[in-house]
Amino acid sequence: MSEPRKRLGLLISGRGSNLRAFIDACHQQELDADIGIVISNRPNAAGLLTAAEAGIATHVVDHKAFPTREAFDMALAKILHGANLDLVILAGFMRILTPAFVNQFRGRLLNIHPSLLPLYPGLDTHQRAIDSGDSHAGATVHYVTPDLDGGPPILHAKVDIRDDTAESLAERILPLEHLIYPAAARLVLSGNVTLGDDKAYFNDKPLPPEGVDWQLLQEQVSTHGA
Ligand code: GRF
Repeated sequence: MSEPRKRLGLLISGRGSNLRAFIDACHQQELDADIGIVISNRPNAAGLLTAAEAGIATHVVDHKAFPTREAFDMALAKILHGANLDLVILAGFMRILTPAFVNQFRGRLLNIHPSLLPLYPGLDTHQRAIDSGDSHAGATVHYVTPDLDGGPPILHAKVDIRDDTAESLAERILPLEHLIYPAAARLVLSGNVTLGDDKAYFNDKPLPPEGVDWQLLQEQVSTHGA
């Protein structure tokens, strides 16, 4: 008997372009998984419409309706646990999650951050890369741990910084986010990438502290085959 398809849950707050990338990856069988649920903390997030149009169950858990961060996180966790998920994907989810929440999903919770981690955790990442005179910027998919944007990286993708504004840089990085995020989810769902005590591993080999360079990986795959 074939294994049941893996189930993903996505948490969003806004536009939902990464959500769109996951919907497409699942439809095109690049990702052998289904999206079981999409939850937004903002009732007017555009991504909710994208999910509904794709026939995915959606929930709004409005953080403003909860007295504390802990109460909000408990409500989120309850829905996620009830949805029987293999992996939870933060896709532009703009709330800091409590350690109590994060620890419940340890090894099954991913985020994408628009910088080359460990550089620039937090906000305004593109502007900070420009202001620092960096030659490159990018995005990183990482495991979520209680350390904000500090969990072990899995995959990253780079672009060179030209005569960029923060907006133009974000625009050039976003299409790469849409490639590396489903790719990283596939590595985790397959069991090849796992989270150890403080590092991510590929088949028991520690990944580099900045994660694997996706472009380099593509070159190796096209030279040596998959
Ligand atoms: C992306 O830039 C992602 O890196 C960051 O939030 C943004 C979400 O965009 N975490 P979208 O809602 O997926 O379009």
